[in-house]
Amino acid sequence: MAKTTILSLLSLGMLACSAPQTETACRVEQLLDKMTLTEKIGQMAQLTIEPFVIADGTGGFTLDTALLREAVVEYGVGSLLNVPLSESQPAEVWGPFIGELQRIATDETRLGIPLIYGVDQVHGGTYSLGSTLFPQQIALVATWNPAHARRMGEITAYEMRACNIPWNFAPILDLGADPRFPRQYEGFGEDPYLGSVLGRELVKGQEGDDNDVNHPEHVATCLKHFLGYSVPASGKDRTPANIPWNALMEYHLPAFREALDAGAHSVMVNSGIIDNEPVHASRRILTGLLRDELGFAGVVVTDYEDLEKLHARDRLAATSKDAICLGINAGIDMAMIPIDYRGFCRDLCSLAEEGAVPMKRIDEAVRRILKLKFELGLFERPNTLPADYPRYGCKEHRQASYAAAAEAITLLKNDGGLLSLDPAAGRKILVCGPNAQSRRALCGGWTVTWQGHGIERHPELCKTLAEALGERFGRRNVEVIPGVSYDAHESRYDTERRDRFDEAAEAARRADVVVLCLGENSYCEKPGDLNDLALDPLQTELAERIAATGKPVVLVLSEGRPRLISKFSAKIPAIVQSYLPGPQGADAVADVLTGKVNPSGKLPYTYPAFPNSLAVYYHKYADEQRNTDATYKYEGDYNPEFVFGHGLSYTAFAYSGAKLTHEGDEIVIKADITNTGDRAGQEVVQLYSRDLYASLIPDVKRLRRFEKIALKPGQTRTVEFRITKEDLAFYNLENERIAEPGEFLFEIGASSADIRATLPFKL
Ligand code: BGC
Repeated sequence: MAKTTILSLLSLGMLACSAPQTETACRVEQLLDKMTLTEKIGQMAQLTIEPFVIADGTGGFTLDTALLREAVVEYGVGSLLNVPLSESQPAEVWGPFIGELQRIATDETRLGIPLIYGVDQVHGGTYSLGSTLFPQQIALVATWNPAHARRMGEITAYEMRACNIPWNFAPILDLGADPRFPRQYEGFGEDPYLGSVLGRELVKGQEGDDNDVNHPEHVATCLKHFLGYSVPASGKDRTPANIPWNALMEYHLPAFREALDAGAHSVMVNSGIIDNEPVHASRRILTGLLRDELGFAGVVVTDYEDLEKLHARDRLAATSKDAICLGINAGIDMAMIPIDYRGFCRDLCSLAEEGAVPMKRIDEAVRRILKLKFELGLFERPNTLPADYPRYGCKEHRQASYAAAAEAITLLKNDGGLLSLDPAAGRKILVCGPNAQSRRALCGGWTVTWQGHGIERHPELCKTLAEALGERFGRRNVEVIPGVSYDAHESRYDTERRDRFDEAAEAARRADVVVLCLGENSYCEKPGDLNDLALDPLQTELAERIAATGKPVVLVLSEGRPRLISKFSAKIPAIVQSYLPGPQGADAVADVLTGKVNPSGKLPYTYPAFPNSLAVYYHKYADEQRNTDATYKYEGDYNPEFVFGHGLSYTAFAYSGAKLTHEGDEIVIKADITNTGDRAGQEVVQLYSRDLYASLIPDVKRLRRFEKIALKPGQTRTVEFRITKEDLAFYNLENERIAEPGEFLFEIGASSADIRATLPFKL
């Protein structure tokens, strides 16, 4: 039976709540029928928790029940977000705290509708103290191993339910195509396909294979930020972007489409502006695309304060009330207000009474929100109890975080086989750089606090690189001198100072090897905006001073985005990218450096060399033009420090026997991969396609498939990829996805540039 028929029969009272598939819809309709306009609008309101808690001065807090009752009982507010005191809380605090909020909502309101509480647990338990923190998504994707995304999802969901939180504002599916963007580390890198594969697993890990979010170990996911958030023209957060519709479809949509197909229950809207239209006001994106075309039936929530921004920031609406009208009519179901809810509720009520926002729109939004609450099981069981989750933050979960970090670490350069370093050799090692003793630098933002500085108050949760290296090489062999340090500032991440600078350079002369730990301090969102993608000048100066000693240097990068190192990289023989590997990251890096772990991470983005060459690997042929004419020498735009998909191993892999065959509609591509070295290792076999001629300039290449395989020395495995004509399609100017006949090349290789076999194909 069509959904609309069911709904109309239900509202006429002609359908009993019996058939399981209609039971939820039926309960929703019965409840909706009883609701007043105020109660409906309350359900569409989401507030941040901070104003409702009172700090007790000893690190604890109490709930301001009078203030909360006004919001929840009087105004019917149905959702809350964020963390009390803006800092990570243990499960034993979260559980009863949300329990009390739920008690007020279910016992003291007329209809007893439970609240839905949402939190950004974006790399494990961001705001849950003692929970398992994982590498950030940018490191997770560098594993090129979907199993790690699945496991992170499962553990995050379990530990969220341990904290009585049923709704996660994750995963982040924004395309990481601009290395300047401060939220690059929150996403899955620059490739649409790679991001889709990992994104699906992260959704399924949290929601379960069947998306049964009523299960006490599952949570509802929220895909963000729909759509086209991550490529503003300035590279700065929440500034205007220009994205042609066909590019939005081709590059930005795939990961969202895949995650929606995977059953994700909710979506958060992009805070930014595309082609002069704030996405929160875009009926085309929020209704035309998301609802009508993609058929999404879940909840759409705004980002933080973004309805108000349509007035205050974007000047699209002359008043806050007009802004609410625009956003709700564009297709928003729930507003993350997050503070002035009285104004929101009053305005939306009058908009509905005046008919400016149709009642049909309000009912549709509330229906979806109630459905989500029913599906989460909140009516039957508004609370989950910490005591029922004995594996919260357990060793096995931390081990999963370590395993992901260890597989993410990417060996970018290893000239002369400087790595690995055998601890038994008794070398004297200098560990220096601002990241050597920083926990923030390993974990990034969304760690204990929004900006990530809170992790420094919990040394028990995270080892530093200096500590982990000291354990491996023996404290007597390891000297630690920062050279440069970050200022211990909470809201600014980019202030650095000399810290025994000359002493570090002197110590390098005494050492056999220098481990230089550079990169970024933690940041999040707008505070992470950059004016210069180059590594900080003081760090660059330190690198140059250390390199000038002539001692072998291992550069360990820990950074949310690829900061430019081309001023000195040629003088550094070994470079290890650790991204933001999380609290187990120091051990993972140390194990790679000592050779206990054979590195197998691959870059999920292009590591640029120059500020004016920030092209992604799937740039256009035109960007590749090179002129070797001695008089007017110029080079193309794609001249990175390291290419997409690059990553070395301590062993070597040979590719042979590549062939292409057809099976029905499928193109089958096979190759044999052999470990030709003397130690076990993992290789990420990558399949790219090149469209040689098309009616719009084709991308030079696109990743179509990949597989990570483990091989013992001498072992060979056949990797098989299957693709269809559909995989080779692209969006034309009419925004249709078309597969054009013509010549293609398939490339199999160890990176986007290290191609080991090329197979022609005609469509
Ligand atoms: C961020 C979102 C986040 C929300 C709630 C916003 O500032 O853009 O990603 O989910 O805050 O914390």
